[in-house]
Amino acid sequence: MIILAIDTSCDDTSAAILEGDKILSNIVSSQTDLHKEWGGVVPDIAKRAHLERIKPVIATAIKRSRIYDLGFKNKTENKADQVERIINEGMRKIDVIAVTLGPGLAPALGVGVNYAKELALKYQKKLVAVNHIEGHLLSNLARNAAGKPEREMEFPALALTVSGGHTKIIYIKEIGVYETVGETLDDAAGEALDKAAKQLGLGYPGGPVIERIAKKGDETYMPLPRPMNAKKNLDFSFSGLKTAFYYRVKDMEKAVIDQNLENLAASYQKAVFDSLISKFGWAVEKYLPKTLLAAGGVLANDELRKRLRKLAKEKGLKIYFPAKKILNTDNAGMIGIAAYYKIMKNEFVEDIAALDRQPRLVL
Ligand code: KG4
Ligand code: ZN
Repeated sequence: MIILAIDTSCDDTSAAILEGDKILSNIVSSQTDLHKEWGGVVPDIAKRAHLERIKPVIATAIKRSRIYDLGFKNKTENKADQVERIINEGMRKIDVIAVTLGPGLAPALGVGVNYAKELALKYQKKLVAVNHIEGHLLSNLARNAAGKPEREMEFPALALTVSGGHTKIIYIKEIGVYETVGETLDDAAGEALDKAAKQLGLGYPGGPVIERIAKKGDETYMPLPRPMNAKKNLDFSFSGLKTAFYYRVKDMEKAVIDQNLENLAASYQKAVFDSLISKFGWAVEKYLPKTLLAAGGVLANDELRKRLRKLAKEKGLKIYFPAKKILNTDNAGMIGIAAYYKIMKNEFVEDIAALDRQPRLVL
């Protein structure tokens, strides 16, 4: 069974081709360059870029997956015609279309949802609507074209998802049965990193820069609060930390800031990660899972991975991360995996024409 999966939930245009739960191709066209100068994602710019890129990205995913023989290259064919032809021929091999329904930025989601509907109706394919967060969770079950890695996951599992848009602890009773047991009440962890980086003039997205320079910094340089850490509450809050950091840095002289960028990044990153680790640890004690999982863009961070591995070891549990870096940040491969498990349960969209994006979709 061949699946075409599409994700346009935020600022990456992505398409993937899967054979069952094996990812054959996973193309991500990042819009970071377009949003960088605004210091964050601008919804209308994202929408326009998704509209321009969605077809070429799908065509590239089809091409790279090698699901059909491309045959002769017609030299007189222009790029747009070539894209149309590849999609047209690819659709003959594709059985199911999967698309992110939400949560995400409404104008961005709309592009993917509308095009997925158009394709499903035109080529008479079944359509699966996927929750983006479920995609992140199940990115841990993704396999490559050779079927690797083979992961036998024991349930119930507890997952930490950390990205620019969400920070959640999710209890997974079994695939498809989820309970959010903790989440951020304000900013997401990635967003908190991005905002601090912006204040320090480090550019966007901030997470990767903070990681890089924090490696050389002293994490005890600036004492910062650990919000909501007093009680064993599983919800997160990063706005207090962000504000504390903002005022502390605002009172510093420019030259002192510049001399201490690495120390500031290290102190701030530690505060964010301390909160993630302590709450995830409490959740483990409370819910007694058999397996731990983590996912989302912030998990690209090696320090966070190290601390999560340490936590898992202390608790005597196995922890899984997505097998490839591309599976951490937004990508359609993970949407295809989530779709695969929905297909196994016959969960298709019944009325394709009536399907609408759901920016606030909950798990
Ligand atoms: O999952 P993702 O690609 O998109 C959303 O769904 O939000 O996550 C993006 C977030 C951004 O906030 C970015 O700063 C953060 O992930 N991020 C990182 C790293 N790479 C990306 N944060 C910390 N360290 C990294 N290496
Ligand atoms: Zn995401």
